[in-house]
Amino acid sequence: MRFWTSPEFDDHEQICLFSDRETGLRAIVAIHSTALGTAVGGTRFRYYGDDGLALDDALRLSRAMSYKSALAGLPCGGGKSVIMGDPDRMKTKPLLHAYGRFINRIGSTFATGEDVGMSVADIETVREISPFVGGTSDGAGDPSVHTAVGVMHGLRAVLEHQFERNDFKGVSVAIQGLGAVGWKVAERLHAAGARLTVADVRRQTAERAVAEFGAAIVLPENIHAEKVDIYSPCALGGAITEQIVPAIRARAVAGAANNQLASRQAGAALAARGILYAPDFVINAGGIISGLDAYFKMPGRNGSESMPLDTRLERIHGRLTEIFKRAASEHRPPEAAAEQMARELIGRMPVH
Ligand code: NAI
Repeated sequence: MRFWTSPEFDDHEQICLFSDRETGLRAIVAIHSTALGTAVGGTRFRYYGDDGLALDDALRLSRAMSYKSALAGLPCGGGKSVIMGDPDRMKTKPLLHAYGRFINRIGSTFATGEDVGMSVADIETVREISPFVGGTSDGAGDPSVHTAVGVMHGLRAVLEHQFERNDFKGVSVAIQGLGAVGWKVAERLHAAGARLTVADVRRQTAERAVAEFGAAIVLPENIHAEKVDIYSPCALGGAITEQIVPAIRARAVAGAANNQLASRQAGAALAARGILYAPDFVINAGGIISGLDAYFKMPGRNGSESMPLDTRLERIHGRLTEIFKRAASEHRPPEAAAEQMARELIGRMPVH
C-alpha cells in the first residue's frame, strides 16, 4: 500500500491503521487537517477488495471533509474512517466495540459518525465505548432533515444567481433519488410551488411522489436529460460524467448527493455550457452542521455553539452566493473556486 505517493495524498496530518484479530476489524482513519479544530468525518464500512483503494478513499474523503467543515464555517477539521469488509457479513457488536476502543486511542483529534454501511444504531453501539462519536439519536436528530433544509437554502442561492429570482413558484426541478434527503427536498420544493419531475430505482417511491406532489416520473437513466430549470442529484455519487453533460438541459445542477462530479473535466464541461453547478460539499453540509452541538459535548472540547441551528443552516445560502460570484469573477467553475476558498481557510497551498 502506498501512503505518501498515493494520488489522493495531500499532506494529510495523520493516518492510523487498526486491526483486531478476534473480530477481524481492519480500519483506516485519515486525518487531513486539524488547522481549524478536531478532524470530523463519518465512518464508512464497505468492501474494497484492495487495501490501496481503501486508503485512497479515506484520504480523498477526509480532504473533502476539511473543505466541507471549513466552508460551513465550523470550528473543525477534516477526517474520515473506513472499515474494510462486507458490513452484512462482518458487522458485529464486538467489532464495533473494538472499533470504539481504537477511536479512543486517537483521542480528541478525531470525531466520527455514520456514513455508508453504518447506521445510527451502529454508531450508538460504538458510542457505548467511545465518546468521540456524534450523530446519535439523542443529538440534533435525523441529519437528513437538516441536509434537506440546507439544500433548500442552497437552491435559493442558485435561483438568485442563475435565474435572478427568489421564489420557487413554477420553477421546474428534476430530482434523482427520493431517499432520506431527496424526499424531504421534494416535499419542501412542492410546498414552495415548484414543479417536480422525479426518478428513483425504487419505482414505488417515485409513484408516491406522483400522488403526493403531482410529480412527473421518468426512468432513472433519463432524469439528467429532462428539460427543467434545475437538475438535483440526490442519489449516489458520480451522477455527472463528462459524457452525460451534453445531454443536460437544465440551467443549474444542485442537489444533495456527495461527489456528484465524476471528474474535474465533468465540472469544467458544465461550466463551459453555462450550467451553474452548486458544489456538493457546500450545499449538502446541513447534516454536519447539525452535528455541531454533539461535537461540543465530546471530551476535550470546551467551546459551545451559541448560533441557532436554523441560522447556521441558512449560511449555506451566503457561502454559495460568495462562491458563485468568485467563480464568475475568476472565470473558473464553482467547485474550483470553492476548493480554493476552502484551502485558503485551512492554510493550504492552492491546488494548481
Ligand atoms: P438514501 O439511500 O436514503 O437515498 C438514496 C435514494 O436514491 C434511494 O431512494 C435510492 O432508491 C435512490 N437511487 C439510488 N440509485 C439511483 C439511481 N441511479 N437513480 C435514481 N434513484 C436512485 O440516501 P440519502 O441519505 O438520501 O443520501 C442521498 C445522497 O446525499 C447520498 O449521495 C449521500 O451521500 C448524500 N448526503 C446525505 C446526507 C444525509 O444527511 N443523509 C448528508 C450529506 C450528503
